[in-house]
Amino acid sequence: MSRNDKQNSEKNMNYVTKNRTQHDTKNRIQHNKKSNTQHNIALLKGDGIGPEIVNSACKVLGAIGEKYGHTFIYKEYLAGGCAIDATGEPLPQKTIDGCMSSDSVLLGAVGGPKWDNLAGDLRPEKALLGIRLAMGLYSNLRPVRLFKALKEASPLRASIVAKGFDILIVRELTGGIYFGERGREILKDVTNLSNVEKNDREALLNITKSDSHKTPLKPNLKTNLKESAFDTERYSTDEIERIGRVAFKAAAKRRCQLTSVDKANVLESSRLWREVMHRLGASEYPQVKLTDMLVDNAAMQLIRDPSQFDVIVTTNMFGDILSDEASQLTGSIGMLPSSSLGLGKRGLYEPISGSAPDIAGRDIANPIATILSAAMMLRHSLCLPLAADAIEDAVEKTLDQGWRTTDIAADSPKNYVLGTKDMTAKIIEQILSVSDARLLM
Ligand code: IPM
Ligand code: MG
Repeated sequence: MSRNDKQNSEKNMNYVTKNRTQHDTKNRIQHNKKSNTQHNIALLKGDGIGPEIVNSACKVLGAIGEKYGHTFIYKEYLAGGCAIDATGEPLPQKTIDGCMSSDSVLLGAVGGPKWDNLAGDLRPEKALLGIRLAMGLYSNLRPVRLFKALKEASPLRASIVAKGFDILIVRELTGGIYFGERGREILKDVTNLSNVEKNDREALLNITKSDSHKTPLKPNLKTNLKESAFDTERYSTDEIERIGRVAFKAAAKRRCQLTSVDKANVLESSRLWREVMHRLGASEYPQVKLTDMLVDNAAMQLIRDPSQFDVIVTTNMFGDILSDEASQLTGSIGMLPSSSLGLGKRGLYEPISGSAPDIAGRDIANPIATILSAAMMLRHSLCLPLAADAIEDAVEKTLDQGWRTTDIAADSPKNYVLGTKDMTAKIIEQILSVSDARLLM
């Protein structure tokens, strides 16, 4: 491990928000029963805009901590491209251990063009997939909600937006094609040997004989081979049941409508998915109306009339794709938070957007998705639901006042368009001003 890595990941370089003494005890108790508990949060800031947006979320948590007497202790760990640069691997064991011993994890984003040509297992994205698997986080919740103030920023036409929408996408996160068997195979016939030097020709012929796709080969010779590559979509009954339960439970607490999205007209794994969802619904959640929808149709219906959806449950890959599509309906992918949970309380919270290397370091990224992810963390992992409400209310009020980042600016006046830091400051201002009134109620 390099010195740099040691400095960044081992030290407890961390912001501790101490209880505020002038805040009265009664209010603290009213705000949350678990006040004064110390919450240990692992930060995986990652790459690109990751550090900026995670810093924003920490500042907001700092304001919440000060205001309501919660103590958040942060430890930073390396994940993604920055971990590759410092340690040679995208997800060092130290990061996994740190996350597993935290109360919860807040992640920015991983990846960037610098690491785009690495082999699959060494790519920054491997950190994300690896940590989800290591922590057993099989359920990914992605709420897709249109803030009233952002109607203008949605690409949908006004008559569709007018109906509003509030969708919860429940995405299976540790199975399916993301984690199924994969590989490459060299096909028997080698073509274009005419221009290949004698030594190289032997290397090529040896590869076809051994059938090995692992044999190192000069990159320029690759074009002489015929290869095939495969990834496998596989789901077991248990995997479908456990994500199904999460989705049915969520729907039962909302509008009791669950849409299960699959591709059962083509895929066997989808046919099992559909069977299990129906069995589960009939035996355990009769109060929830279950509808099946093919994924191509779902992609279309999201644009045509998003108000028809309550909870959507789907596979890892379909959920990845549909949640990006759905995020755009809210104005920007920079608005969508997510939580990833397993069996216990510990979770991983992240904006669904990527690392946006093109805007990294320019103080223009939208921090709202990460701030809302921190709110989800307070609610689902740290048992601080009222603190979560306070953050969400503050975001809503800030938007109501007209403040925007560039991605959601639409036709807003220029003086209302803020950078990452100023938008964060506006949200904090709201937290500090508004929530006193809530506590007096
Ligand atoms: C997401 C991302 C990740 C995924 C990538 C970065 C591996 O797109 O969280 O949606 O596909 O799960
Ligand atoms: Mg995605």
